[in-house]
Amino acid sequence: MTPAWSVQIDGLVKRFPGRTVLDGVSLQIPAGQTAALIGPSGGGKSTLLRCVNGLTPFDAGTIQVGPHRIVAREDARHSENISAIRRRFGMIFQDFQLFPHLTAMENIVESPIRVLGVRPAEARSRAMALLDRVGLADRANSYPRELSGGQKQRVAIARAMAMEPRGLLCDEITSALDPELKHDVLDVLDDLRRDGLTLLLVTHELQFARRSADRILVLDDGKVIEEGTPQEVFDHPRTERTQKFLSKVM
Ligand SMILES: Nc1ncnc2c1ncn2[C@@H]1O[C@H](COP(=O)(O)OP(=O)(O)O)[C@@H](O)[C@H]1O
Ligand SMILES: [Mg+2]
Repeated sequence: MTPAWSVQIDGLVKRFPGRTVLDGVSLQIPAGQTAALIGPSGGGKSTLLRCVNGLTPFDAGTIQVGPHRIVAREDARHSENISAIRRRFGMIFQDFQLFPHLTAMENIVESPIRVLGVRPAEARSRAMALLDRVGLADRANSYPRELSGGQKQRVAIARAMAMEPRGLLCDEITSALDPELKHDVLDVLDDLRRDGLTLLLVTHELQFARRSADRILVLDDGKVIEEGTPQEVFDHPRTERTQKFLSKVM
């Protein structure tokens, strides 16, 4: 395992025309820990992850990921820091975003070869080990359309792992999956967590968050309205809004 990176966000503000979507968000994830970001739809969770990955510029505050810092209005096209974060802090999406015309194997080796300059034979042998790790050693030559949602998501995780990440950002990665397929994906996340990877997970799987996260953050209307251990947040929520949200989703 490569050493994990910490994440520190200070005073993050993100505005879209006419509205403030992140209104001074600060949070810290020590290297190797798992933070679960929960909260009502539209609260800004996806936007926060996109800022951390440099997919969207922001208006104020700073984001520090390992040794790399992103500042307000930084332009992804010219930022070494954003490139470095993207390379080593992968993001995984609800809808997988696999290349449809590439096999599972080809999806996984593409970035290591193109971005990291890994030799193809080496990339393929690492990819096989990763496919084995996510329980898909027999599906290396399958195309995304030949895989179930849960299998596609595990290929997406293997693809992220092929970059030897220092951490992962996961945006509701089990939300599109049938209940019986979620567990395989959550088990893979648990495996990575135990291995010491830093994880920032947006999730509606509150049982999983309670069991596996070190910290829970509740994001509502662009603000962190509650933060603590799973026990603190789930058993003794301090704000009425958190209580309301939890009573709706539990
Ligand atoms: N590109 C955009 N332009 C304008 N508004 C946006 C854009 N992306 C997100 N928003 C708005 O920002 C708010 C937060 O969205 P989002 O981060 O997707 O929330 P969540 O992931 O918590 O559901 C929503 O009100 C959404 O409509
Ligand atoms: Mg979202």
